[in-house]
Order: sequence, then structure tokens, then C-alpha cells
Amino acid sequence: MTIDTETQVSAGELFCDPALWADMDTWHREVAALRREHGVVPVADLPGFSPFWVLTRHADVIAVSRDDTRWRTTPRAVIRPDADAHRIVDAGIPPPSSLVHLHGPDHRDHRAVTSDWFRPAAVAARQPRIDDIADLFVQRMRDLGGSCDFACDIAQPYALRVIMDVYGVPEHDEPLMLELTRGIFGSADPEFVGDATDPAARMLDSAARFAAYFDDLTADRQAHPRDDLATVIANGQVDGCPMDDRHRFWYFVIVATAGHDTTAYALSGGLEAMLRDPAQLRALRDDPALVANAADECIRWTSPVRHFLRHATEDTEVGGVAVPEGGRVLLSYPSANRDEEVFADASTFDVRRPDADKLVSFGAGAHFCLGVHVARRELRTMLARLGRHLDHIELAGEPSWAQSHFVSGVKHLPVTYRFR
Ligand code: HEM
Repeated sequence: MTIDTETQVSAGELFCDPALWADMDTWHREVAALRREHGVVPVADLPGFSPFWVLTRHADVIAVSRDDTRWRTTPRAVIRPDADAHRIVDAGIPPPSSLVHLHGPDHRDHRAVTSDWFRPAAVAARQPRIDDIADLFVQRMRDLGGSCDFACDIAQPYALRVIMDVYGVPEHDEPLMLELTRGIFGSADPEFVGDATDPAARMLDSAARFAAYFDDLTADRQAHPRDDLATVIANGQVDGCPMDDRHRFWYFVIVATAGHDTTAYALSGGLEAMLRDPAQLRALRDDPALVANAADECIRWTSPVRHFLRHATEDTEVGGVAVPEGGRVLLSYPSANRDEEVFADASTFDVRRPDADKLVSFGAGAHFCLGVHVARRELRTMLARLGRHLDHIELAGEPSWAQSHFVSGVKHLPVTYRFR
């Protein structure tokens, strides 16, 4: 079926205009219509953007993610206006080269540097640390005396503390890490951008400060190795040689950025869904064994990573639509996670959902999220505590969503609550 220009442009805006991610009910309603009617949506005429195709269906997102012969990642992993990409090149910033940007053997060899560290058993060994951090934030909730902004006061700093603990970054440097990681991967939300008017300049400045910080950390961990991820990256070898500065820098960036906003949004958005339907939190309290499924449902429902791009290595097709060599497709994880062909009653949040494990929030194939076990444990640990300790919780105002088309979710969640 052909799609007229007007439909293509408004479809393109749904995926590229940060402001439209602040109203997720409308977003999901409009994208559901595209998914049912078209599946693969060509976007050829969106002003400021070279053409791309949006994959809205679960089967297409999985098929492309798993096929790294016909599809590849490149330094352009996220959709941005062409002018932004040109300005970053003109500013002399070297192409990003983190795991999500690398392809083939280069990707495999760099991923191997930390993959043992992220295996289930290795992450399980850190559970006592995650428990301690979760206890600390439940205590913080108690100390706040019955009302807080759960997203800002609890979810965000909890997720940041877990990932920085994994790294071995001291607590007093966490605000700096938050500022710099957001500066590099660039949230478009006006609340997070602050007074920065030039995203390329902000990125350059953040990258320089971040590099200086991690150069010091690298020197320290090379001289004094510890049981932390910074030590693994600082001493990482590829092909028998130490990782070069650029790859090491981007390694630090990807784990730091991927590791906190994502899980924080899964937690705040999951709680928001449970507050809309209090039976969900009651179910969790009555049956603590539900916690693993509930964590997956929070991650399916919120889908905090909004997309990644893949580029065709040859003339090919996806979902019956031809894509020429070099053509790029946008993998829409939030849309795939509401695909009615895969999830029964897909637009209902349900901690008992039997098909929650079909979630595609973590991607698939060679780039499947490296931090999946950290993310799941982090969510389960906090949800178990909320189910166990909360006697009552309700909304105390309107929640709001971050305006970003890359990583986003509930950024404010005012609640009042009572503990048992
Ligand atoms: C709910 C939380 C999270 C979500 C939704 C999420 C989602 C994703 C997605 C969609 C990808 C790309 C997959 C693909 O291209 O097929 C990815 C990659 C990655 N994630 Fe996560 N992530 C989460 C948490 C984490 C955490 C906690 C860490 C680190 C501790 C982490 C580290 C990474 C890394 C290093 C990659 C790159 C892997 C590669 O390209 O080989 N993520 N994640």
C-alpha cells in the first residue's frame, strides 16, 4: 500500500520530534494505526531529515536486529536532523565508536572486553550491593515523610548509584556524571538542556570533561586494579593490544549513559502504570513471586530506549518493502512492544502477563543489551521492596514525560504514600 506524503511526514514527526514523546497515550494511539495499516513506514519527505523507514512491528524489528549480514550499525546510530550531524562533523568531533556504533568483528572483539563481567553469575554476585543501595533509597522515601517526586527523588538517583557503584565512581562525583552523560548523548528535553543553546558545543564540552575524568580513572585503575568495571575497561585488550583511547572513552560513555536513564525510566514509568491501576501493586504485594514478571512488564510497557538505526549493506527488503543499499531503518522498540500480533491485550499493563518475556526493549542479535541482567536485577530489587513495604501509594499530581526521541520516559511522578 502506498503512503501519501502528508501521512509520511506526520509519521516521521512521531519518531523524530522530541516534543511528541511527552504525550505517550496519543503517541501510542497514532503509532498503533500505522502498525496495523502499514507495518513498515517510509519517511521520504520529512524536512531536515534524509529518508528512512520506520519498522513498527515486532517481527520486523527482531528480523533486522538478528541479521547483521544485510544490516549493520554505523556511527549514526540515532536519528537526528542532517544539519546536527553535519555540525558535529564540522566541529571536528571524531565519529562515535562505542559498542552500539561498531559492527562485525570489531564490535565482537570490543564487546568481549566486558562480556564476562556482565554474565548472569557475575551480576548475581553483585546482588548484595544492589540490595544495600535499594534499602538506602527506601529509607530515603521514608525520610521524605510520605510525599515525593518518585522519578527525581528515588528512581533516577537509585539507578545512577547502582551503575556508578558498578563502575567504582565515588558518590560525590555522581552529579557530574549525570550532567556529562546527558550532555554527550543529548537529551532534547528543555529541563535537562539547561541554558545550552548549541547542542554541538554542549556535546564537545561534555566530551572533553568526561574524557579528562575517565583518563584519571583509567590511570588510577591501571596502577591500582580493583573489583570494578572501570578496572576492566581501563585494562581492556583487543587483539592482544591495549584498547586505544578513543574506543576506551566511548566504552566508558556507553555503559555510563546506557546504564541509568534507561532503568530509571523503566522504574518510574512502571510505577506510574501501577498507580493508574492499583490492583497491580496489590497483586505484587500478595504474590512476591510475581516480581520478575512485573519487572519485565515495566520494561516492556515503558520501552525507555525509543529506537536505534540499522543501515542496509545491500539492496534488500523488510516486511515486504524494498530498501536500497545504504538505506536506514529505525527500529521502534515501543511500537514493537505493543504489537497485537505478539502480545495479548498489548495496550494493557499487567504484572501477570504470560507473554511479558517477549519484550523487545533490550533489542536482539549481536547488540542485545549488555546490561540486561543488571537492569532486570535493579528493577526486581526495588519493586520487591515497594510491594513489601508500601501500605498505600497514590498520585499527588500529574506525571510528566521527558521530551526526547531517543531515551525517555516519566521524568516527574508526584506521589503520596504510607509505609507499613
Ligand atoms: C531498562 C533498561 C535498559 C534498556 C531498555 C536497554 C536497552 C538497550 C537497547 C535497545 C540496546 C541496543 C540493542 C540492539 O541494538 O539490538 C542496548 C544496548 C546496550 N546496553 Fe542496554 N538497556 C538497559 C539497561 C542497560 C544497563 C543497566 C546497562 C549497563 C549496565 C546497559 C548497557 C548496554 C550496552 C553496553 C549496550 C551496547 C551493546 C552492544 O552494542 O553490543 N543497558 N540496551
